[in-house]
Amino acid sequence: MAEPAATRRLEELGAEAEAAVSAAGDLDELEAVRVRYLGRRSELTAILRSIRDLPPEERGAVGQAANAVRSRLDELVAARETDLEVAELEARLERDRVDVTLPGDPPLPAGHLHLVTEIRRELEDVFVGLGYQVLEGPEIEYEYYNFTALNHPPSHPARAPQDTFYVSDTVVLRTHTSPMQVRAMEAQEPPIHVVVPGRVYRPDTPDATHVPMFHQLEGLAIDADITLADLQGTLREFARAMFGPSEEVRLRPGYFPFTEPSVEVDVSCFVCEGTGAAGRERCSTCKGEGWIEILGAGMVDPNVLAYVSDSGYDPERVQGFAFGMGIERIAMLKHGVPDLRMLWENDVRLLEQFGA
Ligand code: PHE
Repeated sequence: MAEPAATRRLEELGAEAEAAVSAAGDLDELEAVRVRYLGRRSELTAILRSIRDLPPEERGAVGQAANAVRSRLDELVAARETDLEVAELEARLERDRVDVTLPGDPPLPAGHLHLVTEIRRELEDVFVGLGYQVLEGPEIEYEYYNFTALNHPPSHPARAPQDTFYVSDTVVLRTHTSPMQVRAMEAQEPPIHVVVPGRVYRPDTPDATHVPMFHQLEGLAIDADITLADLQGTLREFARAMFGPSEEVRLRPGYFPFTEPSVEVDVSCFVCEGTGAAGRERCSTCKGEGWIEILGAGMVDPNVLAYVSDSGYDPERVQGFAFGMGIERIAMLKHGVPDLRMLWENDVRLLEQFGA
């Protein structure tokens, strides 16, 4: 029996479709090929539909051949589809490859310490080097520690609400770090060598040299035979560590209720080296004085020791010195900051100039 024309056409069609399937370069092209050779309007579908019009003796062979071509093409399309999917995935993975050895995003610049914190730490280091212990104390303080046990009589003007923030009748925001002298001695028998950094508060209107919150560093040394000369030597060491190796210190008479005698302490001007002159002008840092006032100090008043005699501070047997300095003031002097308020305005153009 001669091969029917339809069967021959099917062979051609099959070969043509197979070639088209292998040639399809991506899934879209493959879909187009599938529609063209297997879709509802494809020649193959037309042939399958026309089988019933063929003479009965041809129907079987043509039907078989057509179905064979269709299932073979179905298989080829499915296989090609898998191949193309794999290839596309691989191509995408290749494209998206991340080089994990590349440096990452640059780290955000780390912040740094505020100038006042930096100076506080420098001061702590200096005094730790001299054998002092660093303590901190409450900023909200009893009037007793802030004034009474520091030998302020009840009528002392510093107690007035113009000069002190009162939280209640007996509680204040500490106006200085000196209350920690008493607290430290209550907690620890002599000998004692402590420094106490921290915030203090005073109802001042802000100007170039005043803000209502600032920082002090208190010092206290009590032992059997401490003298004013020890205070001077200690402060000279501090001045040399903070301002320069040839610093001198000068004690002038002063007054504080809780020290006797009391002194105001100056350091030689580290800008003009004590000469008071800047070329033919006067030195602007020390205003031509050659000396810069830096802190208050004195020998601890026996009346203060009497408040802590229960902890072993017998004024007949021990004595010592205390000092208190403003940390902002030291920061400003050291770095030429002209206005105290600048330290608390948080302008990064200023802050970024300092700090480790
Ligand atoms: N507390 C004093 C002040 O704030 C400073 C000071 C401390 C003076 C210790 C003498 C001894 O001005």
